[in-house]
Amino acid sequence: MGKAVGIDLGTTNSVVAAIDAGQPWVIPDEEGELMLPSCVGLGTQGNLLVGRDALRQYAAAPERTVKSIKRQMGTDHKTTLGEKEYLPQEISAIILKTLKQRAETALGEEVSQAVVTVPAYFTDSQRQATKEAGEIAGFEVLQVLNEPTAAALTYDFRTEETEKILVYDLGGGTFDVSIVEITGDVTEVLASHGNNRLGGDDFDLRLQRYLVDRFRQTHNTALPEDAVTEARLLRAAEQAKMSLSEHAFTTVREPFLVSQGKTALHLEIEIARKPLKI
Ligand SMILES: Nc1ncnc2c1ncn2[C@@H]1O[C@H](COP(=O)(O)OP(=O)(O)OP(=O)(O)O)[C@@H](O)[C@H]1O
Ligand SMILES: [Mg+2]
Repeated sequence: MGKAVGIDLGTTNSVVAAIDAGQPWVIPDEEGELMLPSCVGLGTQGNLLVGRDALRQYAAAPERTVKSIKRQMGTDHKTTLGEKEYLPQEISAIILKTLKQRAETALGEEVSQAVVTVPAYFTDSQRQATKEAGEIAGFEVLQVLNEPTAAALTYDFRTEETEKILVYDLGGGTFDVSIVEITGDVTEVLASHGNNRLGGDDFDLRLQRYLVDRFRQTHNTALPEDAVTEARLLRAAEQAKMSLSEHAFTTVREPFLVSQGKTALHLEIEIARKPLKI
């Protein structure tokens, strides 16, 4: 029987961990990266790209790149990549398989079992799709575990007394706030609230729309609505959002977004951290 791993299959990033001498440790890839961007794509030669390589091509080739597939889990939404159509669990399986290989390379042995985490707020069909993704990737899925439970388990504050803790998790696609009760080895989610359709992706979309509006006001012309322009703006919006976590102001620059006659129009907008009028 192969070893078991724990996997956080995130909207934006995924992670695989193993237990060694009772302690969990995150398994890095061969370059030392701990997180795998949850992104899948087809390269120019029709080759499959997963993680950073797929994310890197997103703004240039959005039609060949899939991001945030977790948001579609439990639906029958089809994604076309090249000649093939994929269900959400099949795209997720590609991410899980990459993590399986990463773990097997690092551990030097077969890894055949996994515990995969899901937002506490996930529905039965979303959980079922997650389990299926694991099976397609070649795992026996031992458990589909709530993310706040997994988060609570990594803290080593176990006492004989019952502890109640609050786990707050704002991810790329989901927002969960849970009250978890820990008694000895038993961790139970007592209450959970949140929104499994609210996360950093939504902030990016808001900011992207703001950029579109500001561009129209400045240049008196609308931006084209093609997939590449939208993807470039979405990437710029995410980078601006991250920059605003550290700075009070940031400047978004996207050169050559659209041509007007013989002149190219660039987007250059300063954004403040203080609330925007959207
Ligand atoms: N410095 C930062 N400031 C603001 N947002 C950030 C920063 N760094 C990352 N993010 C955002 O955090 C989100 C990803 O967070 P995380 O990796 O926890 O999500 P996830 O686990 O993949 O998603 P989920 O748990 O919802 O499935 C993305 O929307 C990303 O843009
Ligand atoms: Mg998460």
